[in-house]
Amino acid sequence: MKLSEKVLAMQFSPIRKFNPIAQKAKDAGKKVYHLNIGQPDVPTPEVFMDAIRAYDKKVIAYAESGGNTELQDAVIDYFKGYGVDFERKNIIVTTGGSEALTMTFIALLNPGDEVIIAEPFYTNYHTFATAAGGKVVPITTKAEDGYHYAKREQIEACITDKTKAIVCISPGNPTGTVLTLDEMKLIGEIAKEHDLWIIADEVYREFAYDDREVTSFSMLPEYADRVIIVDSVSKRHSACGARIGLLISKNEEFMTNTMKIAQGRLCSSTVDQVGAAALFRLPKSYYDEVKAEYCARRDVVYEELMKIPGVVCQKPGGAFYMTAKLPVDSVEDFLMFLLTEFDDNGETVMFAPAEGFYATPGLGKDEMRIAYVLNKEDMRRGVELIRLGLEAYNKKNNK
Ligand SMILES: Cc1ncc(COP(=O)(O)O)c(C=O)c1O
Repeated sequence: MKLSEKVLAMQFSPIRKFNPIAQKAKDAGKKVYHLNIGQPDVPTPEVFMDAIRAYDKKVIAYAESGGNTELQDAVIDYFKGYGVDFERKNIIVTTGGSEALTMTFIALLNPGDEVIIAEPFYTNYHTFATAAGGKVVPITTKAEDGYHYAKREQIEACITDKTKAIVCISPGNPTGTVLTLDEMKLIGEIAKEHDLWIIADEVYREFAYDDREVTSFSMLPEYADRVIIVDSVSKRHSACGARIGLLISKNEEFMTNTMKIAQGRLCSSTVDQVGAAALFRLPKSYYDEVKAEYCARRDVVYEELMKIPGVVCQKPGGAFYMTAKLPVDSVEDFLMFLLTEFDDNGETVMFAPAEGFYATPGLGKDEMRIAYVLNKEDMRRGVELIRLGLEAYNKKNNK
């Protein structure tokens, strides 16, 4: 008996793969600061729990395949706040942004088709694309350039007759890079000239710091027929376990045909949709508060990282991640050392090695991703442990 080539070509999540080793460290009594996974500690807004508590149906029935209309209407009103008009037919509620991406790739890709993504990118795109028979073609970006990629020559060099779409994750995971409206327009122009789809992964939409505007591809009506927006309550509403995402597009052919996939999987969680509708009705002040907290954490992480000799990293503009180059040959080897050999007063730290966020073999071996999802004090201590760990690691290796 044989498994499919597709599943064999997939990789394990680099974010979770060191968990068993971290568990061993914990079993041995060490405290591990988890900077490896994008699981925020910010409380889920009370309105979510209130809406679920008020749910008084006798039967938890299937929802509509496209989603519950109260949630769709809440999403429509939320986008009106950014001057964008959607209708219910433009929205399919999904089981997390992950299912929205899976559906999108199934709907767009034939075997061998390519999607362009700036690397390093959210690692599960490998899985989504491979499951649909497609292939990720990376635009390589660098720590030294703040992982920016919106340059015409760089993007066009990746386009072949197999290219179907350009994926834009902004604000980005794992880099925190935020596209400006001008960069988005350039990508829109390129997509139009080459007749490509734009998959806009905006699950971190409001988390744009300093003076950066909140941007969305939905704000560019001239490209509306080729834009597919992926959204989710996981990050911005701190509700990862609610598993509610959205697929939003004004392209009727895409929405009509993707509805076949949505119907095939019946529906997304009925009860979680009730809570999610309340989340999309939160006032703007909610986002401002959460954003201020993440921004302050980013500053702490950056400040602490800059104390480590040899670290290369630019202060990112959004999301809650930072990718940085460390002065080691193998970040995976260093992480193993942190989890198995090192501690400072019984404490150690865990981050995600960045290699798995690249599609180009060999890249990212000396980079790590930090998720600043713990409070400022813990983040400061976490990065301090990386600094102390590096000193101990270099000593051990006689550097
Ligand atoms: C860029 C990006 N897109 C999509 C997702 C999927 O999130 P979910 O399925 O929880 O909505 C994540 C999760 O980390 C992400 O970082």
